[in-house]
Amino acid sequence: MEFTPGIDAVVLVGGKGTRLRPLTLSAPKPMLPTAGVPFLSHLLSRIRAAGITHVVLGTSYRAEVFEEYFGDGSALGLELEYVVEAEPLDTAGAIRNVADRLRAEDVVVFNGDILSGADLGKLIGTHRNADADVTLHLQRVADPSRFGSVPTDASGRVLEFLEKTPNPPTDQINAGCYVFRRSVIESIPHGRPVSVERETFPGLLEAGAYVQGFVDSSYWLDVGTPEAFVRGSADLVRGIAPTSALPGSPGESLLLDGADVHESATVDTGTTVGERAVLGEGARVAGSVVFDDAVVEAGAVVENSVLGKGARVGARTVLRGVVLGDGASVGADCELLEGARVWPGIALPDGAVRFSSDA
Ligand code: GTP
Repeated sequence: MEFTPGIDAVVLVGGKGTRLRPLTLSAPKPMLPTAGVPFLSHLLSRIRAAGITHVVLGTSYRAEVFEEYFGDGSALGLELEYVVEAEPLDTAGAIRNVADRLRAEDVVVFNGDILSGADLGKLIGTHRNADADVTLHLQRVADPSRFGSVPTDASGRVLEFLEKTPNPPTDQINAGCYVFRRSVIESIPHGRPVSVERETFPGLLEAGAYVQGFVDSSYWLDVGTPEAFVRGSADLVRGIAPTSALPGSPGESLLLDGADVHESATVDTGTTVGERAVLGEGARVAGSVVFDDAVVEAGAVVENSVLGKGARVGARTVLRGVVLGDGASVGADCELLEGARVWPGIALPDGAVRFSSDA
């Protein structure tokens, strides 16, 4: 195992996760079941595999559930600490808020909603070799126009932080993972919301600080939207996204304890079927996340969708790119398509919705 001594990790997990509502009404985004475990377990496994053991979680929204699940972290070989913000302090404010828990000179900070295969040892090595104030993981992406971009010079030093534009000059984007010199964290204003992207990083450049880029093009996904969340979960199940927290071996599906899948049902493309969830006769579930106790009745088709805890899909109903909140149900013979979301506990009766042109 790689060992990276003298470094602390901070994981930001305090966001409200509004883009993932209604799933994030009952659980914060990093705690959503993803390939059989909370999303955060995958990131923590990666941190541990890099030899980092002291991890501080910056929490705010639904703070208590993190500690209830992970405790002191010893089961994962980690020493976990929790710092709660009374009011959300935004990303840099959250990093500043944990400063008094840090022990090492170098601190690697993670957004808690990113799946990544970047080599943390190399990221930290780049930071140390450059003797940088901050080093950012910069991801090369196919369509940088969807993000702010971060150009660098020939030595990898960051030149500027650009807002989203239709024709960005580089395909490098801020990947939501940074190594900070601890003294830089201490210079962030304390006790008010501060954004790393909008305030801290541009301010550092203006002040002449050394901001280095670590450019990478391995697996990377921000699971902030429902589409990305289902893709990330499926990629974990299929072994495309790196993790050592998968309960079982990679494959086309992950069936958790007590999942009841009819022999004529098909489950594939990285689907997870939660504990005690039921898939009826001839049901077809692909690329989806089925939370515990959910039910898919006979002949239903569920693709690239999330079924919340105890949600129900009626017979012959078709869901594509849909989110059902906990306990929501869609009756028989319905069709719900891309982007539809049903709030927790809402029940749509048989035949209530049908969008296809042949209806
Ligand atoms: P949306 O509301 O859907 O945009 O999601 P979000 O609230 O998680 O925001 P975003 O995706 O921009 O956040 C990036 C990362 O920073 C996530 O891991 C969040 O949990 C975390 N984060 C965002 N705001 C705060 C905050 O005020 N405090 C803390 N501790 N973490 C935050």
